[in-house]
Amino acid sequence: MVERKTIATDVIDTLGLEPHLEGGYFRRTYQADHRDLLETAAGPRYLMTSIYYLLTERSPVGQFHFNQSDILHFFHLGDAIEYSLIHPDGSLQTLVMGNDVLAGQLLQLHVPGGIWKASRLLDGSNGFGLISEAVSPGFDFADMEMGNREKLTTAFPQHRTLIEKLTRDQD
Ligand code: GUN
Repeated sequence: MVERKTIATDVIDTLGLEPHLEGGYFRRTYQADHRDLLETAAGPRYLMTSIYYLLTERSPVGQFHFNQSDILHFFHLGDAIEYSLIHPDGSLQTLVMGNDVLAGQLLQLHVPGGIWKASRLLDGSNGFGLISEAVSPGFDFADMEMGNREKLTTAFPQHRTLIEKLTRDQD
């Protein structure tokens, strides 16, 4: 049997993925540069962009972050991934993407803009989980905010334990 770490590394190499700021690995696969840009309140954006996004045993967490755009997530391969969504009213939604549809795992997940989102690789036999994201209006760093532990726990003290697990320890 091939060692699990080798397989995750092979997926990273084969798909040409790079480390992502949130944790995990990604590569942009599409941007709608054959169409007019969309004028948004924050400036012009692609109509849509898309990435591969991979979590591995070595980098198993996509840290809490906030997006203005809507994001459609599509599960492809590997172990299941748990999503934690904190809505503006403070309610927490926990969802699992994976290929066990009969157990209720999701192949698609729609996360509207305006929500704090984190993801975490669940234990499994593969040591990685691969999804794609389609973002509209297209992804721009100006529309994204990384979760600050202090600020998020102040805003949502009821989720302190989860936030501490899924944010970086800032100094
Ligand atoms: N998250 C969703 N889409 C993107 C993207 O195109 N680039 C980066 N860095 N993060 C993303």
